[in-house]
Amino acid sequence: MSKQPIGIFDSGVGGTSVFKEIEALLPNENTIYLADSANAPYGDKSAEDILKLSIKNTELLLSKNCKLIVVACNTATTNAITTLRASYNVPFIGIEPAIKPASLNSKTKAVGILATKGTLSSELFHNTTNLYKNDVQVIEQIGEGIVPLIEAGKTLSRDMRALLTTYLKPMIDANIDYLVLGCTHYPYLLPLLLDILPNHVKIIDSGEAVARQTKTILETQHIINTQPKPASHKFYTNGNTEVMHFLLNNKYAVEYLRF
Ligand code: SIN
Repeated sequence: MSKQPIGIFDSGVGGTSVFKEIEALLPNENTIYLADSANAPYGDKSAEDILKLSIKNTELLLSKNCKLIVVACNTATTNAITTLRASYNVPFIGIEPAIKPASLNSKTKAVGILATKGTLSSELFHNTTNLYKNDVQVIEQIGEGIVPLIEAGKTLSRDMRALLTTYLKPMIDANIDYLVLGCTHYPYLLPLLLDILPNHVKIIDSGEAVARQTKTILETQHIINTQPKPASHKFYTNGNTEVMHFLLNNKYAVEYLRF
């Protein structure tokens, strides 16, 4: 069991930001990554469609013998993880926006969250935000158009800068001191975000927390891979292999797969 791979899926290439955290923390673990780029973005789809796509990805990963599945997509986590957990007999790790640490640590009492429409309108997001925001103003912004640009390889483009400048303005005006990244594609925007935001604003994403949670579950369920052999990492996409290869620092082969 311990040598079986960890399955990771996302609506596209963004979950590779989570893969990198898992690889760094769990270097012995074999992984299989599915990028459902042909169906990206998930963020504009109905909850029903997001669930159907998440089930399709899960079943493909299970057919490849995965021992645990990381839902490396905020939109799929907030809309589908409860059903996935109830339907399949493997552990699922999801990713949710880090509202709690941002609210707890905010000095200006204003934090921003950039995420998809699917995440911001989900019940899970509302419940978490209401639970943790206390007296902090949470400024929500839908990142309309960001994921398609990243999927097209235009991550640090002029168009992206224009979108981000518009989306971040109300947050800057409200004097946020934390920006929460609520989509696994967004860590790739870091150079632009650092350039646009005032210096005092801290940016948090949840990739590292997901890797830590994955380690905890592997340990408690006794399915962690202790073999010192170099791990194998397989990447499949039903979209553009080159964009994904580039985001993986040209380190791994990416295979096209119709799914
Ligand atoms: C999307 O496909 O719209 C974004 C994925 C995410 O929420 O992480």
